[in-house]
Amino acid sequence: MLHLIPLFVGLLAVPWTPVAGLPSGPSSKRTSPINFTVDSYSHEVFYALTRREILITGTYNVSARTCIPKGGAKSDSIQLLAHGATYTKHMWDFAYQPANYSWVKHMNEAGYATMAFDLIGAGNSSRPDAMHEVQTQAHVETARQFSQALKAGHIDGHRWKRVIFVGFSIGASVGNSLATQYPTAADQLILLGHSWYHDYIYPALLMMLRAEAREIDPKRWGFMPKLYTTMPSLATRQFSHLFGNFDHGVELPDWRDLDADTVGEAVSFTFHGTPAPKYKNSVFLALGNNDVTFCGIDCGDKHLEVYNKFPAAADHLARTYPNTGHNILLHRTGKQLMSDVTGFIRKHDS
Ligand SMILES: *[C@@H]1O[C@H](CO)[C@@H](O)[C@H](O)[C@H]1NC(C)=O
Ligand SMILES: *[C@@H]1O[C@H](CO)[C@@H](O)[C@H](O)[C@H]1NC(C)=O
Ligand SMILES: *[C@@H]1O[C@H](CO)[C@@H](O)[C@H](O)[C@H]1NC(C)=O
Ligand SMILES: *[C@@H]1O[C@H](CO)[C@@H](O)[C@H](O)[C@H]1NC(C)=O
Repeated sequence: MLHLIPLFVGLLAVPWTPVAGLPSGPSSKRTSPINFTVDSYSHEVFYALTRREILITGTYNVSARTCIPKGGAKSDSIQLLAHGATYTKHMWDFAYQPANYSWVKHMNEAGYATMAFDLIGAGNSSRPDAMHEVQTQAHVETARQFSQALKAGHIDGHRWKRVIFVGFSIGASVGNSLATQYPTAADQLILLGHSWYHDYIYPALLMMLRAEAREIDPKRWGFMPKLYTTMPSLATRQFSHLFGNFDHGVELPDWRDLDADTVGEAVSFTFHGTPAPKYKNSVFLALGNNDVTFCGIDCGDKHLEVYNKFPAAADHLARTYPNTGHNILLHRTGKQLMSDVTGFIRKHDS
């Protein structure tokens, strides 16, 4: 079922906690949001951003799709699915060989309901200002509101007991930050294609892995506001998302689904890879062993950092998938990943 849900993002100022290693500027004692306009950019704005403060509030439409197993869900949990940058909710229900690649199909067959949403700025959700509004914090607020709405029965009328947050790439950064800021919003956390190792991220972005969408393809993306960015070529898509053991048949369907992300997301997402000491539910981190952007070419034991970042979690599972790049789901190891996740969430599903 498709929904277009208006969400007011940023109703609350996010209480910030200083995080070791982040700059603390002259405004570091500020407790209420700065009144920020595009013309009032300053170092204070930059520091506020690093503290994940909300500087602009607004109401945005968020497009979401729920899929309930035939004959009804066999669990009181629903999976809330957050896609990666330049993807949309379509990534969870891949059209090519769905029996091999569709997360939604796999989870529905395992008895789990799913709700995939388009991040603000992507797919059929609103596309507001790409620098100042479409930032990672907006996605964290979206996830928190969806978690509350699903549990309260405000979507489809079903009161879900538990929300399992599943995020890929920037979607995983959102889950990480959700667990830091709102430790009870997710009853389980599944992080795909995420690490706390950032050495390669900005070089990758600067190496033309992104350019302005409306310049790349004016016919397709000319309607997008400025600073919406995307991948300029199939080669950059392959380089950054695929490695080793995959069927080349996935490339074109994936490329046809390409959407845009924003400069605001690019500048903000690394500030959301924060420790989540108050998160007490379970967490599963899955990383392709050859995730070029998040590890360099070899992830080694970088996935084990999940134990340090979630010190109070009830259970951790950290896995790397061999011969696999950033989007694990597009690799031959994707089926193993889906089966690992199903086993993990069943174990904690009560
Ligand atoms: C922000 O703007 C509101 C409304 O114009 C005003 O009441 C408030 O004092 C301002 N806050 C700051 C920190 O300047
Ligand atoms: C949300 O969608 C409705 C229906 O298409 C539209 O009328 C409204 O202007 C949209 N709101 C925003 C904030 O984009
Ligand atoms: C799934 O992938 C395998 C290996 O590439 C292939 O042989 C099989 O036909 C695929 N299954 C479906 C249903 O497309
Ligand atoms: C957006 O809506 C259009 C028209 O209904 C649909 O064809 C398209 O698949 C939707 N895209 C996403 C990402 O949901």
